[in-house]
Amino acid sequence: MPKDQNIDFGSLVEPERVHKACYADEEVFEHELKNIFYKSWIYVGHESQVPNPGDYWTTWIGKERMIICRDEGGEVHVLYNRCPHRGALICNNHHGNSNKAFRCAYHAWQFNMDGSLRNVPMKQGYEGIIDLKDPQLQMKRAERQGTYRGFVFASLSEEGPSLDEWLGTGARAAFDDICNRSPEGECEIVMNCFRIIQNSNWKIFLENQLDAVHPSITHHSTGDAAADMQKVYKQETGEEPPLGYQFLADFTLPYEKWDSLDTIGYPYGHTVLAGYMGLRPRDPVTVAHEEALAAVHGEERMDEILSTNVHHVLVYPCLSVQPPLQQLRAVRPLAANKTLTEIWHFRLKGAPEGIYERSLAYYYHVNSPSTMVNADDLNNFRACQDGLASEGAGDWVSLHRNAGQDPVEGDVTTSVTGMSEQPMRNMFAAWKEYMTN
Ligand code: FES
Ligand SMILES: [Fe+2]
Repeated sequence: MPKDQNIDFGSLVEPERVHKACYADEEVFEHELKNIFYKSWIYVGHESQVPNPGDYWTTWIGKERMIICRDEGGEVHVLYNRCPHRGALICNNHHGNSNKAFRCAYHAWQFNMDGSLRNVPMKQGYEGIIDLKDPQLQMKRAERQGTYRGFVFASLSEEGPSLDEWLGTGARAAFDDICNRSPEGECEIVMNCFRIIQNSNWKIFLENQLDAVHPSITHHSTGDAAADMQKVYKQETGEEPPLGYQFLADFTLPYEKWDSLDTIGYPYGHTVLAGYMGLRPRDPVTVAHEEALAAVHGEERMDEILSTNVHHVLVYPCLSVQPPLQQLRAVRPLAANKTLTEIWHFRLKGAPEGIYERSLAYYYHVNSPSTMVNADDLNNFRACQDGLASEGAGDWVSLHRNAGQDPVEGDVTTSVTGMSEQPMRNMFAAWKEYMTN
């Protein structure tokens, strides 16, 4: 790409292919931060991460260091992690409790948990010079913040769609599906998370989440090994193997099965892959979960909740959510070729402990840094990024699979097959919109 300020970002995206610069060019990346990550809503954390007054977690919105915290009155705030005195980070740890007030480690300015200045040592040096109530001397708050069912988002833009409008029905369904599975209608985050730095562009990770062609190829050996172990377990114990094996064995599904899945593209790039795992076995844990939900909602509603069959919801550009297994991965872009992902999971309030164990098994077996599934994927991501860096091997990336065949109804696009590259095209349609406005 020419290194000037006049990149025509719109020309990088065609209906069925995108330019390699979308993934590999630092100027494009900087513009993505400005136009996508600083303009849309970004997930910063869950309310249950900061259960007590004084609790805080640090996180990122693009390159901006942010804090999510709870004040003495119980209110949650999202603040920039910067001291207004001489600019130091206020919180240097990932998380902690600040005992009612933040205290900057450099010159001990103190701030209430809503960011307002609480005290300054040796105030006389400022008398008649500055007003300590000056907004410039408070910790800056995120321009906007909002919460949906306990999931906290912030936007660094004063303008733009409301959180509700931006989430729309597609993205909201991810959080509804998690919370509705709890007999209390709520979930709580499980501390702590795994963090992985991927040597690849943030979009490669999101695209892969809805890429139903690759599992039977990339994860073939993992799936086969798990399927073999299921047989051995059954032979040796005479019992059904734990569900954790099935999570891995599912990667051996034949192509026809992936083909039959739906993908659905919503406005703002949010995209859904329908579910494929049989998560309603007749084991005692599932039955106890059904009973707990039916006791609150009745049989019909219980059945409706547990029949919701969604495997992945991408909340573009910042989240990959797997609601039936209470998994969430947050995307924090660091550079064109470097992405941090935070891997979290949740507990359903009031659900049997076995349901939590199921979520934990998926967390460890499929999403953790140590699983073979993740290693397989990370290797593909790195290989893509390295290939895309080539100057001479070609400029375009193909998104042609089933192009032009996606049924459109209003602002929702579905796919003719689960293996369609419609999800990638949907995300890039949103990318183009963000990047050119
Ligand atoms: S930089 Fe924070 S008190 Fe001086
Ligand atoms: Fe994968």
